[in-house]
Amino acid sequence: MEIAGQVAIVTGGAQGIGAALARHLHKAGAAHVCVCDLDGDGAKTVAAEIGGTGMQVDVRDAGQIGAMIDEIEATQGPVGLMCSNAGIANGFDPAVTNAAGASAAEWQMAWEVNVMAHVHAANILAPRMIARGGGYFLHTVSAAGLLSQIGSATYSTTKHAAVGFAENLAISHRDEGIRVSILCPQGVATPMLSGIGGDGPQAGDGVLSAEAVAEAALDGIRDEQFLILPHPQVQAYMEAKVANYNRWIGGMAKFQRGFRAAK
Ligand SMILES: NC(=O)c1ccc[n+]([C@@H]2O[C@H](COP(=O)([O-])OP(=O)(O)OC[C@H]3O[C@@H](n4cnc5c(N)ncnc54)[C@H](O)[C@@H]3O)[C@@H](O)[C@H]2O)c1
Repeated sequence: MEIAGQVAIVTGGAQGIGAALARHLHKAGAAHVCVCDLDGDGAKTVAAEIGGTGMQVDVRDAGQIGAMIDEIEATQGPVGLMCSNAGIANGFDPAVTNAAGASAAEWQMAWEVNVMAHVHAANILAPRMIARGGGYFLHTVSAAGLLSQIGSATYSTTKHAAVGFAENLAISHRDEGIRVSILCPQGVATPMLSGIGGDGPQAGDGVLSAEAVAEAALDGIRDEQFLILPHPQVQAYMEAKVANYNRWIGGMAKFQRGFRAAK
């Protein structure tokens, strides 16, 4: 899809990958970029830089997402590109004393931010986009949604679910003009990565800048690629997983063993 002229929304846009996406969309000629985040001041700062709209929105709340979309469509026109990017990395325990042991609150939070926020946005926008002849969803997921996340079952599980939803959205509405991309990097230099410690396997193939990841995302949207891999090595890891699941589990367990020993 051509980005120039599109009205776009980026969630989790106050910092990190979301802020880079917002800036790159503006540079690519988007007609208007709405930047939203739980951190309303941060969202407004990024929006001010690019002549966009900044809003405080909690993406766990379907009502708040709906109100944002309504306001942007009323003032700027139809949203052609929805970037559901906000995410959280919680439940980390490098020693993994119990893979299922994150608290109920951590599991719930991960589901709401990493999965249901994508569902809420699509629930509101997909029918409108279909009625208009089409539209685009960019879902920032992670290589952890294709492979796994050493040290966090909440992140790994919810990112896999996000891939499942994006696949279904893309399949269900392809014939109605809906296009979907999943952005699946490994380590990216953002506050999130610093927060979880940037030394895990996610950094093994190099940590990319948020700007490089945003550029890869925009290229992927232009080419209408469902799977966007800013770290191309992930393709080979996926192929190895599919080719021999048992062997892949063994290899990942070896990673886990090394990681546990180092902590
Ligand atoms: N940094 C990495 O290494 C990495 C790798 C792969 C995937 N990702 C994914 O990229 C996305 C962006 O991550 P990042 O690294 O820029 O992280 P980040 O923590 O730097 O930024 C995430 C932003 O999302 C916002 N946010 C969190 N919960 C929210 C909520 N309920 N409502 C609205 N906003 C909320 C935060 O306030 C923050 O500004 C996430 O989905 C993350 O899982 C990151």
